[in-house]
Amino acid sequence: MIHKHDLIIVGAGLAGLRAAVETSKYADVGVISKLFPTRSHSGAAQGGIAAALGNEEHDTVEWHVFDSVKGSDYLGDQDAIEMMCGEAPDAIYELEHLGVPFSRTKDGKIAQRQFGGHTKEIFDENGNSKRIPVLRACYSADRTGHVILHTLYEQCVKSNVRFYSEYFILSLIMDEGVCKGLTAFNIRDGQIHTFHAKAVMFGTGGYGRAYRVTSNAYANSGDGVAIAFRAGIPLEDMEFVQFHPTGLYPLGILVTEGARGEGGFLVNKDGERFMKNYAPTVMELAPRDMVTRSIQTEINEGRGIDGKDFVNLDLTHLGEAKLKERLPEITGFAKTYAGIDPVKQPIPILPTAHYSMGGIPTNLFGNVLADEKGNIVKGFFAAGECACVSVHGANRLGTNSLLDAVVHGRRTGKTIVKYLRDAEFGTLPANAEEKDIEKFKKLYATTSGENADKIRVRLKEEMTNKCGVFRNEKDLLSMLDTIHELKEKYKNVHMMHKGKVFNTELQEIIELGNMLEYSDAIVTGALARQECRGAHWRIDHPKRDDVNWLKHTIAFKTEKGIELKYKPVKILKYQPQERKY
Ligand code: FUM
Repeated sequence: MIHKHDLIIVGAGLAGLRAAVETSKYADVGVISKLFPTRSHSGAAQGGIAAALGNEEHDTVEWHVFDSVKGSDYLGDQDAIEMMCGEAPDAIYELEHLGVPFSRTKDGKIAQRQFGGHTKEIFDENGNSKRIPVLRACYSADRTGHVILHTLYEQCVKSNVRFYSEYFILSLIMDEGVCKGLTAFNIRDGQIHTFHAKAVMFGTGGYGRAYRVTSNAYANSGDGVAIAFRAGIPLEDMEFVQFHPTGLYPLGILVTEGARGEGGFLVNKDGERFMKNYAPTVMELAPRDMVTRSIQTEINEGRGIDGKDFVNLDLTHLGEAKLKERLPEITGFAKTYAGIDPVKQPIPILPTAHYSMGGIPTNLFGNVLADEKGNIVKGFFAAGECACVSVHGANRLGTNSLLDAVVHGRRTGKTIVKYLRDAEFGTLPANAEEKDIEKFKKLYATTSGENADKIRVRLKEEMTNKCGVFRNEKDLLSMLDTIHELKEKYKNVHMMHKGKVFNTELQEIIELGNMLEYSDAIVTGALARQECRGAHWRIDHPKRDDVNWLKHTIAFKTEKGIELKYKPVKILKYQPQERKY
């Protein structure tokens, strides 16, 4: 079956829906999601969305820019960061006017809380400049992503956006370098459909599901990133995977940084607030990469609670009323998944794979880039976590993700509206669905072969252990071997269930193929990058190396394997400095 829309957006998280709101005023828009839209992973974002509104204390866009550049370990492109932080206040007020129920200050303004790495400049009695945490994260209790997602969905319904829920994308349809649509299957009946469009936008989210311990939803299997890569589009900075400091032990479910923003402490087995040894000025509110390494070091050196691989997040001193008002969601999670009441007991936490700094390269307008020189792919756009603009560089600051999704969803939407003025449908290449139909036939015909679960479990386990918070050459080489072995096995994977209706085994097998595809790019990039920068920490190359590595990795899929090229970082106002907090 062929469906035709001016624009097809894949992914119904914040980036996709914000772009749909923008474009649906002018164009016929279809949104494809493998979930029901309001189940998209943006809805799991808890603590806030950054903008220098200055509602609770003085703040400036310039400080937000500086913090994001420094937080990125100077790998973020400063033109993109300036743009994102500059557009942040307007983007937040727009969300407010669309109906997002933000928490409020006493005088009715949007409430703001502290988050790691977000600071203001103060001067001590000798006139020396110092940076301390600032109230910058706009929030709605600890359900910020949830309320924005629902509001945007309502706006899309109002604008008659056509939703294709529970459709799973398989391939991009490229014709002489131009994107003309895509193929997808309907999870409800296993049928393959073709979507013909003048423009395609991906807002398909991140790739944290390649790890065993992760805060990411099951859906975050990086499908968009893998599909773009297979279609010949390069991937940027894939080695930068963010580990959130506080995942609920042992699964890694997110416990918002907002908990530390509200005053929570991190303590080891001796009851010591160990962050004083790592980031004495901002303590628990250091950027994520630093807090994560500090926690992992405590665990590795035997100071985890009861010698186990977790430390405690203590909120007991905040009191029941504050937890109820500001952190109800994580209070519930701790009770449900760990049997802990945070009012009375500390929460056991460990670092958890959380955010993908890398992804499909785009320019500031959401055009997907075909190469390291900045040539664009006609008809193809991306925004949000699947894209790499790059506003987060080597390490994203908490609450800049929702901001990235909203700002770039809106910007990309505006770019697409202009693009559609002159764009045409063109003709689809013959048999656009053929490769996917063959793939399905092969899976349905298998009677024996490799077990997908075993491949998946090994991939996730080894990615966590060998390409996690701390990395070294030996482990990365071994991880590459594993990936190549698992890719070979995958070619012979056996699908046991042959049903068509909600065949979740089929879906998981496709997702596994995607995870193997981009994990190769993560590990290849990590092996090549012989330095420590942000979330990429090579214990065998223990320094940041600006002379050789102040550059973005661009990975290409070739016949012979992954080929890496590099492109310079855009440095404007802030020259790289040592990062101290
Ligand atoms: O900790 C959190 O609430 C997560 C926020 C983020 O990743 O931006």
